[in-house]
Amino acid sequence: MARQVPARLSSDAEVRSLAASSLVKLFDSLYEGAVVIDHAGRITWINDKYKALIGWNGAEAIEGRAIEEVLPNSRLRQVVETGQADLLDVLTIGGRQMVVSRIPLHGEAGNVIGALGVILYDRLQALKPIVSKFQQMQTDLASVRKQLAEGRQAKYRFSQFVGASRPAVETKEQARRAAEREGTVLLLGETGTGKELLAHAIHAGSRRAEGSLVSLNAAAIPEALLEAELFGVEPGAFTGAGSKSRTGKFQLADGGTLFLDEVGDMPLGLQPKLLRVLQEGEVEPLGGNQLRPVNVRVIAATSRDLKTMMEAGSFRADLYYRLNVLPIRLPPLRERREDIPMLCETLLEQIAEQGGEASRALTADGVARLAAYDWPGNVRELRNVLEQAVAQSDNRRLASADFPMLPETVVILPPVPDALTISGAPRARPLREAVAVAERIEILRALEETGWVKLHAAKLLGISRAQLYEKLAILGIVSEEAGS
Ligand SMILES: Nc1ncnc2c1ncn2[C@@H]1O[C@H](COP(=O)(O)OP(=O)(O)OP(=O)(O)O)[C@@H](O)[C@H]1O
Ligand SMILES: [Mg+2]
Repeated sequence: MARQVPARLSSDAEVRSLAASSLVKLFDSLYEGAVVIDHAGRITWINDKYKALIGWNGAEAIEGRAIEEVLPNSRLRQVVETGQADLLDVLTIGGRQMVVSRIPLHGEAGNVIGALGVILYDRLQALKPIVSKFQQMQTDLASVRKQLAEGRQAKYRFSQFVGASRPAVETKEQARRAAEREGTVLLLGETGTGKELLAHAIHAGSRRAEGSLVSLNAAAIPEALLEAELFGVEPGAFTGAGSKSRTGKFQLADGGTLFLDEVGDMPLGLQPKLLRVLQEGEVEPLGGNQLRPVNVRVIAATSRDLKTMMEAGSFRADLYYRLNVLPIRLPPLRERREDIPMLCETLLEQIAEQGGEASRALTADGVARLAAYDWPGNVRELRNVLEQAVAQSDNRRLASADFPMLPETVVILPPVPDALTISGAPRARPLREAVAVAERIEILRALEETGWVKLHAAKLLGISRAQLYEKLAILGIVSEEAGS
């Protein structure tokens, strides 16, 4: 029931003094202890709970004493001196830690006339579970942040792009040059040729290496969500979508690199918005009307034929040209077969490391069988095939027979070229090519003469059988009697 309204209105001074005494009563009951000092730091009032807490026996008067005489650690005097409240602090009284609050008291003129100290909580021990939970959450947060930051770092360096063939060296050289520049990179190549590897290496080799590398695969995200992923969402952008905002990949990559994988799968409807960000360096999150500046370098990649797509109208020409600033073509594996032995060595080492066992090697006929295949899945497929062979065979050196998943090597019998091919060549050609032609001719001759018995052919050529296999692989000469 509501209290009765007083018959007579109180004066301001009366209201204030009533309020003060009610507050003091409240402090007395609410807190574990309450004490008031005057402007000189002398205790003017202290409640019984406080007295009990500090073990004051009640015989002597406590009022009028300097606060430090009663509470040596007290900081109430500073509150009077500075006029600043201490809303939350830990004070040790008699070896126990208490949570306290200190508030300056003001006079009519606004001057500080004293201070009030209250003990909010006298058993900090009891707060331990909450405090340790909080600390655990802090630790968890730090480790999640670290993981996130690690997830946004480059996983590969240029040194991990294996290959000494001319196409591989050229590609790597182009990528190194691109790393030193700022323009958009477009990585073009079949599946498994190392586009992702190179994107990471370019970021790691660029001036942005300290910044984040954020990846987005346009083919892996439903079209409806792609826009939000890329550009972010302002709070309450959709009705029913909750009021949560989301930071888009462009903003996450601010100061770093955004790897736009499978950019050929970017929906046509979204392409103008992407183009605008690339041109203006500003993103507009969904549901917002504010443009946010971003400083992002884009590396795009696709295994699709973007140019043909553009001509067919399924990829916007303006976006194509905006992406195609520093194009890099990654050669398919069949165009750099001579890298196969070196790649196998690296991949077999990686596989061994994963499985925690000694690395396997390849016999010459094993290399020849691998070199003969066309590798539509490129290095990824090579890795898978090696992994399967390692799992299925106990041979320390994997031979042709350990690769039953690959088609039987087909006999390719290129016509033995006429010696004239060399002398009759219309023009001088690079020495490398001329030597390769000469080698090919001599090898094919030796094979013909010996009925394709490689041991004999190698003898005729003055090289080891292993060397012959390697050359056969490199020159793309394959026979079905790989084991002979
Ligand atoms: N030149 C290389 N040297 C060593 N490893 C390579 C090389 N190229 C590719 N790889 C390895 O092959 C696998 C596939 O490479 P990556 O994922 O970069 O290919 P991708 O071009 O992005 O393929 P996709 O188009 O299918 O996404 C990875 O395990 C990668 O480490
Ligand atoms: Mg990829």
